Amino acid sequence: NEEENKISYESLQETSKYLTDRVKFTPKIGIICGSGMGGYWKAGSLADALEDKIEFPYEDIPHFPRSTVEGHVGKLVFGHLSGVPIVCMQGRFHYYEGYPLWKCAMPVRVMKLIGVDYLIATNAAGGLNPTYNIGDIMLVKDHINLMGFAGNNPLQGPNDDRFGIRFPPMNQAYDRQLMKDALQVAKDMGISDIVHEGVYTCLGGPNFETVAELKMLKMLGVDAVGMSTVHEVITARHCQMTVFTFSLITNCCVTDYDTYELPNHEEVMDVGKMRQGILKDFVKTVVLNISKK
Ligand code: 6GU
Repeated sequence: NEEENKISYESLQETSKYLTDRVKFTPKIGIICGSGMGGYWKAGSLADALEDKIEFPYEDIPHFPRSTVEGHVGKLVFGHLSGVPIVCMQGRFHYYEGYPLWKCAMPVRVMKLIGVDYLIATNAAGGLNPTYNIGDIMLVKDHINLMGFAGNNPLQGPNDDRFGIRFPPMNQAYDRQLMKDALQVAKDMGISDIVHEGVYTCLGGPNFETVAELKMLKMLGVDAVGMSTVHEVITARHCQMTVFTFSLITNCCVTDYDTYELPNHEEVMDVGKMRQGILKDFVKTVVLNISKK
């Protein structure tokens, strides 16, 4: 029973103390680097760009999930970006790896205990909105928690009020002001033409979707589909963090039977690399803006 195995508040405090004992600054911003932000590259990721880095491989952190994917980087990186102290997850935990949702999202609670108030979650996603192109950036304005519809939710099980309330609202999951600020950043960078606002949904994966599934999601109002983030955002909102999320559109979803393109993981990674420079500058400025709040 996964519920019984849930990690207690006290255990997460131990995790937090292990980290804060070893890092002499308190980050107010946490960033989750997914496939779009080089979360899994050996070099060149956003986490690599931090100054005065202190790195913790996930396997060294008490109570952290063990990484299951061979060859993937998995570490928590503390450092400064544009002079702002941040903590960065280089690589995240996915449901398809076999972790329950609460475990996938557990690092968010650790961030909260460390003192993080703002979560920037990034991911790679397939574009369903026909106006999106490969390499575009979608600021997530809302999500559809499809896995939650089926009764699978990271907050399932006994609620610990020290994190948040039993029935948290989700209608303001994605901070409107941070989105407005980010749109302005895009404008200043001259990249407004590749930046959209849209609705994200997470499926369990690891397979990509069938044509019928994608058609259904399109009808539901989904603009981009991925395999992460939603459970992290729910967990972050539960503990009162302010959330900003964007997806890098790494492929355009095929919604007809006569197209023979197949989505694949290599393409996802390649598009991440292609946008590496722009995304780094974009995130740096978003971070700088948040630090002034
Ligand atoms: Cl097409 N689907 C899902 N579920 N995740 C993705 C994707 C597609 N492209 C990148 N990540």
